[in-house]
Amino acid sequence: MSHRIAPSLLSADFSKLGEEVRNVVAAGADWIHFDVMDNHYVPNLTIGPMVCEAIRPHTTAPIDVHLMVKPVDRIIPDFAKAGANVITFHPEASDHIDRSLSLIREHGCMAGLVFNPATPLHYLDYVMDKIDIVLLMSVNPGFGGQKFIPETLVKLRETRQRLDAYKEKTGRAIMLEIDGGVKIDNIAEIARAGACTFVAGSAVFGAGKDSDPHRYDSVIGALRAELAKQ
Ligand code: DX5
Ligand code: ZN
Repeated sequence: MSHRIAPSLLSADFSKLGEEVRNVVAAGADWIHFDVMDNHYVPNLTIGPMVCEAIRPHTTAPIDVHLMVKPVDRIIPDFAKAGANVITFHPEASDHIDRSLSLIREHGCMAGLVFNPATPLHYLDYVMDKIDIVLLMSVNPGFGGQKFIPETLVKLRETRQRLDAYKEKTGRAIMLEIDGGVKIDNIAEIARAGACTFVAGSAVFGAGKDSDPHRYDSVIGALRAELAKQ
């Protein structure tokens, strides 16, 4: 299985996001994870389509937009136009999950559902054909720097089984992403439980906020080295 590392801009230096994006991709990041919070669905407020559009010219790496907003449909076309490649949302935040997933694909992006730690997987039941990625939250959404919730490993294994069974039946692979508390010392265990795409915010951007453009090389290298041990 190929692994992707997706640093979350939530922990980057917001006064120089373009530079942060360039440096983290130069250090080996595969995707840029873009956390959108509305102070309504989650108790925090972050960045929107205008910031996505502003960072788009700084990289060719896919931008992975994680919507923590309610409602979701109004903002989907704006993110597609702003250069997003992947758009995921929380099923509790949409009254019409099937419609929201279709809307994301109609706008040319990969679509996915995000599951909070206590959200059951049954939301997947009738929409697998419209899903390109499943994102499991391993913290409660809203803030960076929280501790990985160990029960997520059980949920990861269960999700991996579902996705493998679906692939067996249809030939189509759905990606499995994990978000929250991913660090050098737990990424290998998380990979063994079935994740292929790893969001890491504080672990990556916490590596230093000085003027060294190579400050992310060693942490991304260490995350990759752990993954290579699989
Ligand atoms: C939390 C966000 C995460 C967060 C991860 O709501 O969805 O993407 O930035 O941060 P860390 O890696 O610090 O837990
Ligand atoms: Zn996120």
